[in-house]
Amino acid sequence: MQSWCVRIDASRAEYVRKKLLQKGLLDRSLRVARLGGDVLFPILFERLADLPADLKEKIEIANFEERKAVESDYKQYVKIPQSLVPLLPSSFDIVGDIAVIKLPDALLPYKSEIGDALIRAFPHIKTVALDKGIKGEMRIMGLEIIAGENRTETVHTEYGLKFKVDMKKMYFNPRLASERRRIASLVGNEEIVIDMFAGVGPFSIMIRKYGMPRIVYAIDFNVNAIDYLRKNIVLNHLNRIVPICADAKTAIEDLPPANRIVMNLPHSAGEFIMTALSKLEENGILHTYFISDKTKEHDFVKSVRTECTMAGYLIEVLRCEELKSYSPVASVYSLDLLLIKRG
Ligand SMILES: C[S@@+](CC[C@H](N)C(=O)[O-])C[C@H]1O[C@@H](n2cnc3c(N)ncnc32)[C@H](O)[C@@H]1O
Repeated sequence: MQSWCVRIDASRAEYVRKKLLQKGLLDRSLRVARLGGDVLFPILFERLADLPADLKEKIEIANFEERKAVESDYKQYVKIPQSLVPLLPSSFDIVGDIAVIKLPDALLPYKSEIGDALIRAFPHIKTVALDKGIKGEMRIMGLEIIAGENRTETVHTEYGLKFKVDMKKMYFNPRLASERRRIASLVGNEEIVIDMFAGVGPFSIMIRKYGMPRIVYAIDFNVNAIDYLRKNIVLNHLNRIVPICADAKTAIEDLPPANRIVMNLPHSAGEFIMTALSKLEENGILHTYFISDKTKEHDFVKSVRTECTMAGYLIEVLRCEELKSYSPVASVYSLDLLLIKRG
């Protein structure tokens, strides 16, 4: 059916999706559509006037598939006191056939009912896991299975690629799919790429599949992640990805200078930027991610500029965009830096 929608470049899609969900503007009875490199979000007609100004410029009419009623709302199956219904989350992550959901404390006594309702509403979900927060240097999520099959291993598909992952042993974030695809599309002919914090390889594999690199070096110090990265290289029939199980700070010293470095470790980005720049060719690009208060991302960029100047690096900020919300006050930002010249 036809609907008004917001048409957005895929690189901004996740951010816009969350914004629309938060404001209740997305028409959830329709499926989100794709057209070329763009994502089309159906908007509730009666809420068009409430769109933020920058999105109002992006509206058009397009055709959308309707969702089956059962998919639109798991809440109808949850039997909990009426006063708690507003606390039920409206969104959750799906990794392969595992749903990962965060629940406020008041809903914890009903976690099994909520898990069962999700499985009933979304037949492709086989396991529901409670997200107990990401911890430690390996960024592993604490998980508790609350419904369905008792397992944390699954195969997640994005852009036609398969990622085998064990959510209890390694990090994986399905929300970064369009960011990975954006980076891959930038990788030019014969580039040498280093993925400093590769995990099970979603950036490396996406880059190898959709970019044109000569080679991708994929580093991670989580043995389990590197083990799954090896499996994923085979699963996707790829070559010229070199898994390295080591600390990125030292492992990078033995690698050849790179044309492009990906650094997906937002919590500690600042600690590794100089290490990465020391390995980057002139005219090479560093893709880094950082967490900042929503209004203070420029402070991080300013401090990077200062550090670079002091170290004799001439850099240019090609792009700095909010990637996803991290908390009510903080976001994860994506920063692309061009190394113009070293001193
Ligand atoms: C936020 S995760 C990103 C993983 C992957 N890039 C992705 O998008 O799924 C960060 C990864 O960096 C790894 N890591 C953290 N510090 C590291 C270090 N000093 N050397 C190598 N790997 C490290 C962790 O084990 C984890 O897998």
